[in-house]
Amino acid sequence: MSFQLTEEQKMVRLMARDFAGKELEPMAAQRDKEEIFPMDVVKKMGELGLLGMMVPDEYGGAGAGAVSYCLALQEIAYACASTAVTMSVANLSTEPLLRFGDETQKTRYLLKLAQGELLGCFALTEPGAGSDPGSLSMSAEDKRDHYLINGTKVFITHGQYADVVNLIARTGPEKGSRGLSTFIVEKGTPGFSVGSREDKLGLRASNTVELLFSDCKVPKENLVGKPGAGFKIAMIALDSGRIGIASQALGITRACLDESIRYAKGRKQFGKAISSFEAIQWMIADMATGIEAANWLILSAAWRKDQGLPFTKEASMAKLFTSELANKSAYLALQIHGGYGYLKDFKVERLYRDARATTIYEGTSEIQRLVIARNLLKEHA
Ligand code: CAA
Repeated sequence: MSFQLTEEQKMVRLMARDFAGKELEPMAAQRDKEEIFPMDVVKKMGELGLLGMMVPDEYGGAGAGAVSYCLALQEIAYACASTAVTMSVANLSTEPLLRFGDETQKTRYLLKLAQGELLGCFALTEPGAGSDPGSLSMSAEDKRDHYLINGTKVFITHGQYADVVNLIARTGPEKGSRGLSTFIVEKGTPGFSVGSREDKLGLRASNTVELLFSDCKVPKENLVGKPGAGFKIAMIALDSGRIGIASQALGITRACLDESIRYAKGRKQFGKAISSFEAIQWMIADMATGIEAANWLILSAAWRKDQGLPFTKEASMAKLFTSELANKSAYLALQIHGGYGYLKDFKVERLYRDARATTIYEGTSEIQRLVIARNLLKEHA
């Protein structure tokens, strides 16, 4: 067993760290404060191949694989968790086309998504269908030469800026998850518009909107995969998405630890640096131990994906553990900073708010436990 990253993986991590340090970190607090979605930076990320990292080079991607993707995403999240979710969802949006798209769709969309010429988003959630997307109600009626789409999607990451939407809608009379299909919908298609923008607790430099579809005609050739396969396509895409969110949570946790150490060494109380107190040391030790464990959980899931092995359970374990860790670590980091951590002048205040979403989106912690348990029970059948 090798615990070594390849030279290429190390280079990708370094490139992302350098990019994040120059392009994200300096403006991250201001973008958060003013809710600025950094389209210019996202464009540069596309040019660097950061938005199509798992797409092979024959389809315009970086062909870097899941391990490199996770390493890069961590570095982006360390500097700016908002931009990390943008990166995660952009990469997730390439999965349905890569795995199920036909050659025309790959040439028309995947190539451009992978090269950052187009930005993709993923529209599954509806007002009445969050943890249970199998119950979604958006309709896509088969009208011979097109599908007619009606309904509303909510909580769509960078939906306002996306050029194409991976849309999951109901095509069949079959109940639940078996009657869903996946489509690619282009921005500007008549009947498709962006609804209200959400005012969020954290990740304020990421964009979250409603997408509205009213008698929207989508050409037949924009169906991705077979009719009725939409739920499985979404679940397969989410498996990859979840290692992305785990990596985002790990980046946040690492930032919590580094901010805590820096502050604890500089802050003096009772005549000495608070880092000399055991209570503070234990908090730091807990964060660092969690980071080590999370790192291996994420690498294990990503490695399995790169090997073509099943990784649904491992992705959920990585997401569950690391997102919970990010929240605990943000709590501890703020505690170490005391009153100062409660102020917007300190990075931990932002980390505390940003961490919160990670146990919720792309499947809550409760859904991750359900996925893990179901897979385990299947393995022991
Ligand atoms: N890979 C392939 N197939 C899968 C699969 C996977 N990971 N998971 C399920 N399936 C298949 C099943 O094998 C089953 O197939 P058959 O019909 O042939 O038997 C079918 O899909 C239905 O599966 P289930 O019976 O398990 O479905 P369910 O309705 O019980 O739901 C669930 C399972 C795990 C709870 C799922 O609904 C789920 O993951 N919910 C959470 C949704 C979620 O994560 N939403 C995130 C929104 S996107 C987002 O947040 C992005 C963002 O902007 C940040």
